[in-house]
Amino acid sequence: MTVTDHETLANLLQEDRRFEPPAELAANANVTADAYEHAAKDRQAFWAEQAERLTWAERWNTVLDDSNPPFFKWFTGGKLNAAYNCVDRHVEAGRGDKVAIHWVGEPVDDTRDITYAQLKDEVSQAANALTSLGVATGDRVAIYMPMIPEAIVAMLACARIGAPHTVVFGGFSADALASRLDDCQAKVVITSDGGYRRGAPSALKPAVDEARTKTDVVEKVLVVRRTGQDLGPDGWDDDVDVWWDDVVANASTEHTPEAFDAEHPLYVMYTSGTTGKPKGILHTTGGYLVGTSYTHHAVFDLKPDEDVYWCTADIGWVTGHSYIVYGPLANGVTQVLYEGTPDSPERGRWWQIIEQYGVTVFYTAPTAIRSFMKQGREIPDQRDMSSVRILGSVGEPINPEAYIWYRNVIGGDRTPVVDTWWQTETGMIMISPLPGVTHGKPGSAMTPIPGVAADVVDDDGNPVPNGSGGYLVVTAPWPSMLRTLWGDDDRYVDTYWSRFKKQGYYFAGDGAKKDTDGDIWVLGRVDDVMNVSGHRLSTTEIESALVSHPKVAEAAVVGAKDEDTGQAVCAFVILRENAGDGGADIVQELRGHVRKEIGPIATPRQIMIVPELPKTRSGKIMRRLLRDVAEHREVGDVTTLADSSVMDLISQGMSSSS
Ligand code: WTA
Repeated sequence: MTVTDHETLANLLQEDRRFEPPAELAANANVTADAYEHAAKDRQAFWAEQAERLTWAERWNTVLDDSNPPFFKWFTGGKLNAAYNCVDRHVEAGRGDKVAIHWVGEPVDDTRDITYAQLKDEVSQAANALTSLGVATGDRVAIYMPMIPEAIVAMLACARIGAPHTVVFGGFSADALASRLDDCQAKVVITSDGGYRRGAPSALKPAVDEARTKTDVVEKVLVVRRTGQDLGPDGWDDDVDVWWDDVVANASTEHTPEAFDAEHPLYVMYTSGTTGKPKGILHTTGGYLVGTSYTHHAVFDLKPDEDVYWCTADIGWVTGHSYIVYGPLANGVTQVLYEGTPDSPERGRWWQIIEQYGVTVFYTAPTAIRSFMKQGREIPDQRDMSSVRILGSVGEPINPEAYIWYRNVIGGDRTPVVDTWWQTETGMIMISPLPGVTHGKPGSAMTPIPGVAADVVDDDGNPVPNGSGGYLVVTAPWPSMLRTLWGDDDRYVDTYWSRFKKQGYYFAGDGAKKDTDGDIWVLGRVDDVMNVSGHRLSTTEIESALVSHPKVAEAAVVGAKDEDTGQAVCAFVILRENAGDGGADIVQELRGHVRKEIGPIATPRQIMIVPELPKTRSGKIMRRLLRDVAEHREVGDVTTLADSSVMDLISQGMSSSS
């Protein structure tokens, strides 16, 4: 962490605004204050109670098997089917006519309401279709789709037949898709011709075609017709490509879900780590569903018969997995699913959707809130959002001003804001206020939820006193924890469990502080992972992409503070000698290259061509100094540099080029 982080923190800790839970909410809350103590008394017994929320084909005999740490297992001996729990059982309980999904397409008036009974039929058809395409239990299926109902159907169909899915965010490039397909050896890809983005169709299928030229693992590609756009003369391969409409729509709606072991793999979700290669986070079935279902019930106080829930995440990220698909559907909620961007065709589109569907619980990211703040409150003020009763935030620290704006403008100064800290790895919300119990403190994620044990520790793993900072750790296993990294047990142990090996703590990679009340403030990553608009990006991954360009000799990437996106990607690049000055368009060329290699989300905001990079005597790039430059600060201590004049060279280059 940098010095400025600490300064910001000192300001944050002076935050003295407090918001008590609304009395009515507190009186009717799903979870009350005694849950903390109850859970702490016997954590395993607590999670076993929560497991009763699900329908098990066979009951577990051990809640937590911790015989081989850090390879923990939960609910061993138990058997269940995730799709049955998310869909069938609600139909069997007489709630088949209840709307599961209010789907809102990007083109205005392109909407669909899907009941639980319809969802059951579609998931069953898709499960039959996948089986007919040769997918067997244990095979991996990749999903590369826009936010359309078929994406959820595809995920649940995979779960239903025990084929772990790996959803790749539609904004990732063909190269990024190919490396993920290859890493998990995906046999089938489910995609669509395209999706809508700001009023225009945007193609997806060509990226799958291109990815297939880089890996030969894929046997079949199942294509949903969404936009009807032309796939081009080479855009269809009869041996591989099949239309969803041909095989799914014609399949039987009868399908018997098989019960799988609680530890059967449910999905692999790739996320950025500190090296160039993305990590395949593995989640399994029983514990994951228990954790997501309980936290959705507790943190959002979700009342399935009254609430209309909306989480704006994309299903390509873990938030979409846990809090659009598995948690909410296991709980039988009615939710909104929206295909498009927040501001198309008009800036107030989200607020119009809240008004139209009477959304009561709304979950989004600070980066979105900040961009709405910029546009001004006149836009949301045009809508009646009095239905909203709880607001959630996830993905990055929410600055107090954004919190206050969110609460006042979107929540009518009535609603609790739950700032939820968690990660792809944790699978479920870990640190968050409970809306009927905890008072709100703008900027703080407050305390671990019942059943979770987390702390802030120093370098030696000792808890820091109130008022001090350190590393965020989870001190006891939790049901929805990752089980390993796909195909890389060593990296799993190394990344998460070696930093505080002696104590057996899970190292989250985040820095945090406890304030004088002991409440937790998450400050951001302490490793080489950046957080841009709530998306995790690895500095090394972007550096590798830059270095793969023929004109680049060396590159260093840092995340610099950015008012809109939290952090922004800033790259420092040394060109090869034979590239000369790289040409007038070198910066655009390199930005385009990163976009192609990884995807638009990784595009550097700024690329600076420099003659040298600051390195220590052992050759390690000192990113701290580059961050000073990128954030227009006085450059810090340079005494550990091998050549201390390097920073002068960089600064001179910067002023002559700006
Ligand atoms: C950051 C997203 C502060 C954090 C669910 C974490 C947060 C990373 C918060 C995980 C929050 C997430 N306050 N920081 N409420 N929520 N983060 O895997 O740095 O995409 O380690 O999971 O986002 O990002 P991921």
